Amino acid sequence: MSELLRATAIGTDLTRVEGPAKVRGRAPYAYEHPLEEPLHLHPLCATIARGRVSSIDASAASALDGVVRVITHHDAPRLADTDDGELAILQDERIGFRGQYLGAVLAETPEIARQAADLVVIETDAEHHDAEFRPDHPGARAPEGGADDVRTGQFDTALAAAEIVLDQRYSTPIEHNNPMEPHTTSARWDGDTLTLWTSTQGAHPAKQTLAPILGIDPERLRIISPHVGGGFGSKGLPHADMMLAALAAQVVPGRAVKYAVTRQHMFAVTGYRAPTSQHVRIGARVDGTITAFGFDAVSMSSRTKEFPEQAIKPARQMYAGAHRHITQRVLPLDVAVPSWMRAPGEAPGMVGLEIAMDELADACDLDPIELRARNEPELDPDTGLPFNQRRLLDCLREGAERFGWAERDPRPRSHHQDGWLIGTGVASATYPAFRQPGSKALIRSVASGYEVAIGAADLGTGTWTALTQVAADALEVEPEQIQLAIGDTALPHATVAGGSTGLASWSAAVITAGRAFRREHGTSPAVGAESTGEAGKNPAAQELAMHSYGAHFGQVRIHEPTGEIRLDRMLGVFSAGRIINPRTARSQFIGGMTMGVGMALHEKGELDPRFGHVVNHDLAEYHVPVNADIREIEAHWLDEEDPQAGPLGARGIGEIGIVGAAAAIANAAHHATGVRVRELPVFGDAFLPR
Ligand code: MOS
Repeated sequence: MSELLRATAIGTDLTRVEGPAKVRGRAPYAYEHPLEEPLHLHPLCATIARGRVSSIDASAASALDGVVRVITHHDAPRLADTDDGELAILQDERIGFRGQYLGAVLAETPEIARQAADLVVIETDAEHHDAEFRPDHPGARAPEGGADDVRTGQFDTALAAAEIVLDQRYSTPIEHNNPMEPHTTSARWDGDTLTLWTSTQGAHPAKQTLAPILGIDPERLRIISPHVGGGFGSKGLPHADMMLAALAAQVVPGRAVKYAVTRQHMFAVTGYRAPTSQHVRIGARVDGTITAFGFDAVSMSSRTKEFPEQAIKPARQMYAGAHRHITQRVLPLDVAVPSWMRAPGEAPGMVGLEIAMDELADACDLDPIELRARNEPELDPDTGLPFNQRRLLDCLREGAERFGWAERDPRPRSHHQDGWLIGTGVASATYPAFRQPGSKALIRSVASGYEVAIGAADLGTGTWTALTQVAADALEVEPEQIQLAIGDTALPHATVAGGSTGLASWSAAVITAGRAFRREHGTSPAVGAESTGEAGKNPAAQELAMHSYGAHFGQVRIHEPTGEIRLDRMLGVFSAGRIINPRTARSQFIGGMTMGVGMALHEKGELDPRFGHVVNHDLAEYHVPVNADIREIEAHWLDEEDPQAGPLGARGIGEIGIVGAAAAIANAAHHATGVRVRELPVFGDAFLPR
């Protein structure tokens, strides 16, 4: 167990240290870095879902005043490695999905670039494409790298013999990351060195991915990303937009190329959450004890690059049940490449599982919280390991208390008010606690205090602030004495802000460096004294099943004559280890819960199988929740620390807020109306008479 860092600055609600710079416009986002006479890029994109480019006529575009270059697969720089189908753009004439990059126009202004792109005539030979996701498609198969199925005991026999059997299918749609700041990259080659000013959740990981594909030494690629205007996973892995900027800049050496992906095009090229179908089969005794547990998920993937949306992940560890059958399949189609979106796997997977648990509670005539209490596993059913701090029931019980769950009449349609049916629902939350090894930190004493350098990322989530607090406690000084530097590959290596691992992983390096600094230089160091630290592996991760837990409670009202559905209130209670900054943490939790509301009630990418693209590709037609949709939202957390998680005692909070939130709302809608919706989002027409 690590020696826990003593909390002095940690736990205080320090306001965002970069806040004043942001409101004064002095904190540059990716597009805003001042670069001399940049060129502006507008992409050329595929308008068919599958086929080949047969000809490109760029003469009219090239003739336009202000156009500097048009590049296509004919003249784009060659990549050293084309194995990554998403990133290997402009290398040949093949088209794998609608919206895929086929080229780029470089011009003196963004307007000219866009106009010129419209003038490029691209002829294509279309091939038959398949862009219709259906779970019984014969093309569904185990993910690349092999199936990771769970088959424990005699599932079929136990299910057949069960007193109560639940057998239902649930589905979640395509969902899109919509950070306020679109994906943006400025690129410039100076000799054999490439600099990217971009918006990324991990500067160093992006460098490690892109450099070998470009065929350059990673030391010749610098990525600068001090401020990120939202990243929910779509900025976690580098997408082809960064590659396009890098390739385009290569043909105009010494000149910067600026590229901001349009909101519409973000629906095709920057990753999205794949739709899933979930078949849940649970056998239980009449007292609610689960005997057989089955969860079979299929997710859509892309023939251009595989990405399994692992909806089975939470089913592996959430509840007891001796006989288990859990499988994940993918269906690769001629569609854009899916990728990470907040709590990949867990967020959709807990929709089917937690609605199923609500249905099972009904079937057993049990309170849904009591049902979960009766199915708490002793050990992790997945690994057989003990849990670190499994406080699911504490979260459910504290949430029930705060929400007023005891006053609820469990019968559906039992609460009415002025033509509205009112219902409440509950669901569990979970997310694994990882800590990534390999981040490094450098601490140097300066006249005014200490410079702390690490290539970490702040997605708007509070890294600048929280890591300042951690560094202050590691050095046992005030936060005002810390000058943090993050978001640059010129700084020591840092792992990605992904999988809710960021702060715990980077802090392990900062704490190690801080402790080393005091050991090596004492409390009155000379100016210029330096120490480094590196985050190691968490040895506890081998011996314990490390997860966070939580509970969501929601109340909705449904207008009987019209089916209009409104969220009245949301409450979340989380067990996530130590909370570093309650101000930024609360924001993370309610941000996740708000995205859960989006999953429940608003968000659905409509894939048109005729064309293979998402047609509602803007914020007018793809709805995300706004303030008027949220009303009352509260997040609380258990007062705890988790020394098994590392010296910070924290397990990460970026994702757990979204997990289970949608199911709590769907369950509330059932309680209100008696209608069980198993397909997200829950639209009001489900409640109208048929
Ligand atoms: Mo997040 S989906 O872990 O980048």
